[in-house]
Amino acid sequence: MCGIVGYTGSREAVEVLIGGLKKLEYRGYDSAGIALQKNGKLIVSKAAGSVADLEKTLEDRFSNTQAGIGHTRWATHGRPTDQNAHPHSSMSGDIVIVHNGIIENHRSLREWLSGEKGYSFRSETDTEVLAHLVEDNYDGDLLEAVRKAVAFVEGSYALVAASSHEPERLVCVRKDSPLIIGIGDNENFIASDIPALLSHTRKTCILEDGEFASVTAEKVDFYNEEGCPLEKEIFEVNWDITAAEKGGYDHFMLKEIMEQPMAVRETLRQRIDVKKRRVDLTELDSLKNELAGLEKIYIVACGTAYHAGLIGKAVIEKLAGIPVEVDVASEFRYRNPIFAANQLAIVISQSGETADTLAALRLARSKGVKVLAITNVVGSTVSREADQVFFTWAGPEIAVASTKAYLTQLVALYLLAIHMGESRGYIKPGLGSELIEGLQNLPGQLKALLSEDNISKIKTYCDHLVTWKNAFFLGRNLDFPVAMEGALKLKEISYIHAEACAAGELKHGPLALIVEGLPVIVLATQKAVLEKVLSNIQEVNARGGAVFAITGEGFEDIDRQVENVFYLPPVNDIIAPILSVVPTQLIAYYTALAGGSSIDKPRNLAKSVTVE
Ligand code: M6R
Repeated sequence: MCGIVGYTGSREAVEVLIGGLKKLEYRGYDSAGIALQKNGKLIVSKAAGSVADLEKTLEDRFSNTQAGIGHTRWATHGRPTDQNAHPHSSMSGDIVIVHNGIIENHRSLREWLSGEKGYSFRSETDTEVLAHLVEDNYDGDLLEAVRKAVAFVEGSYALVAASSHEPERLVCVRKDSPLIIGIGDNENFIASDIPALLSHTRKTCILEDGEFASVTAEKVDFYNEEGCPLEKEIFEVNWDITAAEKGGYDHFMLKEIMEQPMAVRETLRQRIDVKKRRVDLTELDSLKNELAGLEKIYIVACGTAYHAGLIGKAVIEKLAGIPVEVDVASEFRYRNPIFAANQLAIVISQSGETADTLAALRLARSKGVKVLAITNVVGSTVSREADQVFFTWAGPEIAVASTKAYLTQLVALYLLAIHMGESRGYIKPGLGSELIEGLQNLPGQLKALLSEDNISKIKTYCDHLVTWKNAFFLGRNLDFPVAMEGALKLKEISYIHAEACAAGELKHGPLALIVEGLPVIVLATQKAVLEKVLSNIQEVNARGGAVFAITGEGFEDIDRQVENVFYLPPVNDIIAPILSVVPTQLIAYYTALAGGSSIDKPRNLAKSVTVE
C-alpha cells in the first residue's frame, strides 16, 4: 500500500521525509518521491524503484528546506514509473499533492479537466486529477482549495497538499484511507502510518473520514467537511516500532486477516454499476470478442490461488455456463493440454511472479490462447505478459500465508462469473443483482465476522487442535475447496498435518483415521447438501472426532450434533465461500500462535516462488 509523510518545522525537511519513507518501506512499494518548499517554489524529485534510488537523485538544492511531502507508491492506476510516482504537480507547479487510495471518477474528471479546463496531464494515474482540481480551486487559501477539490471526487483518499504560495503550510484530508498527524515541538508531521512518526513524536491525532487538517510548524487546526473548526483528542502511542509496523497486531498475518473488509471493498470499487445493479468490467473490453464466444476456460494457479481457481470453476460454470478446467500450474505444462479456438486461460497469482504460473501463461499464449491474469501486483511479470489483467487491489501482503489476497481473488472471480453470465444471457433472471447485493454486503459482514466473540470461540478450539499432529477439513460442493484452503493454511503455519476431504469420500478410506478427539473442521454452508453433511458429522461423532462446524444462519440443526459451531452472517450459498474461509484462517493463525511457530515466515516457505 502507498505511504505518505509530510513535515513542517525547522529541521532539514529532506532528511525527515526520507527517514519517514524508509520507515514505511516494509509495506511494499514500487516508486517514491518528495516535494520540498524552496525559495517560493516547489521542487520535486521522483524515482521508480526504492527510496535509496530516490535518494541518489537528490542534489544539493534539496537541502536547506523546512517543509515538504513524500510518498511511496504501490502502483494501481498506471505502471511503476518515474512519471506515475507521487508527488503530482499541478500544471503551473504551484500545487503538489500525495495521495493514497483510488479516485473512482478519475476518467470523467480527467476528460473535463483536460478538455473544458485546458489542463495537461503528465501521468497515467488517477491521482493527478487532484493536483489540477486543487489548483483550479485555489484562491489564496489551500484549505479552501482542497475542500472544494475533494467535493468533486468519488473514491477513497488520504491526501496531503502543499502550495508554493503558503510555504510553511500543509493541508490534508482523508476518506477511507488512514492519515495521522504527529504533534511536535514547533514542528509537525503527517503520515499514513505510525512507524513514520515514532522517531520524532508519540503524540498523534488520527484524522477521521471527512476531516481536514491545516498543519504549520506552530499549530495544527482541524476542520469538518463544512469547514467548521473541530477539537481533536491527542493520542499517545506506546507501541514500539515492530508493533507499529504491524498496526499494533502481533503478526502481519493477523493484520492482513483484519484488513479483509477493506481489501474486498477495494476489489469491488468501480466494478459495480450501482444504479443498474450490474457488474461493470469495462476494463476487460479488449477481451470482449473472446469472452462472447468462449467454449472453454482453463484456470491455472498454485497453492492458495489454485484453491481460488476451484471456486472460480464452480461459479463460472454455474453462472455463465462455460466449462472450466482447473490445473495446478506445475502440472499444466507437462500434461499437454488440448488448446483450441474459443478458449481463454485465466492465471491467478497474488505475487504475479510464480514461475510455474508464468510458464503456464507463456504456454497458453504460445498456442494462441488469450490469457487473463488475476493478480495483486501491478508491474509484476504476470501482469506484463498477460493479454489482460484484473487487479485485485488488496494492498501488499507480507505474511507468507496468503489471506486477503486469496479473498480478493475470489471476489474477482465472482465478478467475472456474474459479468460473463450477464453478457451471455445465461444467469437466471434476478440472480445477478441478488449476488451483486451479496458482494456489496461483504465488507460489513466480514467486519462482523471478525468480532472478539467469534475469535474467542475459535481460540478455545485451537487450544485443543494444537495438541494434535493431524486434522481433517471436510466439505461438499462449494465447501470442499474451502476445506482445501483451510487445510493448507493450517499446515503452512502450524506444521500440523491437515487433510481436506470431500465429505462424501470419508467412508471410502479416511474414516479409518478418525479417533477419539481428532480435530475435524466441517464446512457446512450449502443447503442443497446439508443433510448429507449432517450424516458425515454423525460418522465423525460416532468415532469420537472433535468437530468444529462452520455454517450459516438457519442451519441450527447442527447445534444438536456439534458443540463447537461458528455461524456466518446470512449469505447466499453461492457467495458463502468468501465468508466461510475466514474462520479457517483464524483457526490456522491461533493454532500456530498456541504452538509457538513462526507465523509470518514459516519454515521452508517463501512469499514469492520464482523457481520451478
Ligand atoms: O503468488 P502466488 O499467488 O502465485 O503464489 C502461489 C502460492 O505459492 C501461494 O498461494 C502459497 O500457496 C501461499 N503461501 C499460500 O498461503
